[in-house]
Amino acid sequence: MDMEVTAWMSLHHAMNAEDDRRPFSKVTLRRIARFARPHRRRLAAFLGFSVVMAVVAVATPVLAGRVVDAIVDGKATATVVGLAVVIAGLALAEGGLGLANRWLSARIGEGLILDLRTAVFDHVQRMPVAFFTRTRTGALVSRLNNDVIGAQRAFSDTLSGVVSNLVTLLLTLAVMIGISWQITLLALVLLPVFVLPARRMGTRLARLQREAAAHDAAMSTQMTERFSAPGATLVKLFGRPDRESAEFAARARRVRDIGVRAAMVQHVFITALTVVSALALALVYGLGGFLSLRGQLDAGAVVSLALLLTRLYAPLTALASARVEVMSALVSFERVFEVLDLTPLVAERPAPRTVPDGPVAVEFEHVRFAYPSADKVSLASLEEVAGLDTRGGEEVLHDVSFRAEPGQMVALVGSSGAGKSTIAQLLPRLYDTDEGTVRLGGEDVRDLSFASIRETLGMVTQDGHLFHESIRANLLLARPEATEDELWDVLRRARLDALIRSLPDGLDTIVGERGYRLSGGERQRLTIARLLLARPAW
Ligand SMILES: Nc1ncnc2c1ncn2[C@@H]1O[C@H](COP(=O)(O)OP(=O)(O)OP(=O)(O)O)[C@@H](O)[C@H]1O
Ligand SMILES: [Mg+2]
Repeated sequence: MDMEVTAWMSLHHAMNAEDDRRPFSKVTLRRIARFARPHRRRLAAFLGFSVVMAVVAVATPVLAGRVVDAIVDGKATATVVGLAVVIAGLALAEGGLGLANRWLSARIGEGLILDLRTAVFDHVQRMPVAFFTRTRTGALVSRLNNDVIGAQRAFSDTLSGVVSNLVTLLLTLAVMIGISWQITLLALVLLPVFVLPARRMGTRLARLQREAAAHDAAMSTQMTERFSAPGATLVKLFGRPDRESAEFAARARRVRDIGVRAAMVQHVFITALTVVSALALALVYGLGGFLSLRGQLDAGAVVSLALLLTRLYAPLTALASARVEVMSALVSFERVFEVLDLTPLVAERPAPRTVPDGPVAVEFEHVRFAYPSADKVSLASLEEVAGLDTRGGEEVLHDVSFRAEPGQMVALVGSSGAGKSTIAQLLPRLYDTDEGTVRLGGEDVRDLSFASIRETLGMVTQDGHLFHESIRANLLLARPEATEDELWDVLRRARLDALIRSLPDGLDTIVGERGYRLSGGERQRLTIARLLLARPAW
């Protein structure tokens, strides 16, 4: 294999190797095995082919040495031609096997992506509304994309890489030692010079790329939030397009700088490795030539050793980072399983009933309800917070009982935040009651199928767009230079000051995607406060 390719490969491996040294449970490994089971035949074929390819790869340099020996010894032309034909045959076989193996690994890898992706999508879709009010869509989508792909890497790249590299390495070493143990030892002396910078540079590159990825994510969040119809309207009415552009440009510039830096780091690395491998090759030629002149080694053996050496470094450097690479692939698996393991708080019964036909009565019977705590409904990594709140919400509904007959028009009247929308949400089972029963046509909604509830209920919700930022940031959008006093003044006029003062983080409370963690009225009043801030004269 070409030295440059070797260098790229080791760099690639080191870059993908995130330093995660968590131990992994048997349970995780067993679950991975379960996902791999449908692909076991292809996996076995793939591993078998990998071993055969490794053998072929070692055979060619040995045969090349034989050719040189045959020339030096003045053997018959037929011998040389015969050897050349065998080498050609092996090259063809290697190409064919390579094609087959690529197909197998792609088929296994992509098949695994398909299995994991559909499983995660299906599961997430069944999560209750509470889950979506807390998780960041971007984080969830990335779980579906990046981690699923990271997990399949464990199979198609890492697993096969480890097996075939190990076989290649052992075979190559054995053959080299068989030819000349002195030269083999000498060639290995330079190895640390090759492997250590590879890992150092890889770590640096990985850090740069992670930073670039974070900026990319921030840019796409900015774009998706600002480029939605309500977001764009907001920017036009209150926002500062120039500020938005400047913020975006600053991130984009940083990505450019990182790109330039990464390219240079890569090039320095490649140059260093090319030099090191050339030195190792020179050592083989020097010592090999010396021994050959003294009659202790055949000329062909020197050629074989030189060719084998170029095939030794690739598996060695790959294996050097294999452990961490396997670990990071396993992390991806765990992150996928973490989502699959979330049990939906609201689930359909095994044999659900249907709502009776015709107009039905709505009935609440001694209903008590508090919004569930974060740790019950979501994942810290999806909320993009370090740890989840374990505090449950305060009880919102205290022993609510009422009955609305078919055809009756009923209005719920109460102060904002009293729990009117919450009552409405209990009907379609966006949440379940803590105590008491909600009935639709005399049936407990928990016994009904989701489909039948959907067919029976119609619901219009309050809305008001807020960016997924702090209350302060949402207000300042209207007037970035507003003082703290002005903020509290508009909050007071919007009757929001008491609520925001009572929040643990006050003005810095993150309102959640589209503000869905405030009551509808609170949300609307926040948009009113924003308006008041933009128009101080009102
Ligand atoms: N997803 C949620 N998670 C946690 N608490 C919530 C959530 N949604 C609402 N709350 C809280 O529950 C209480 C009741 O909210 P609800 O939306 O039912 O009020 P409401 O009566 O509809 O008020 P409004 O008239 O303002 O719409 C409020 O104190 C609110 O802050
Ligand atoms: Mg409401």
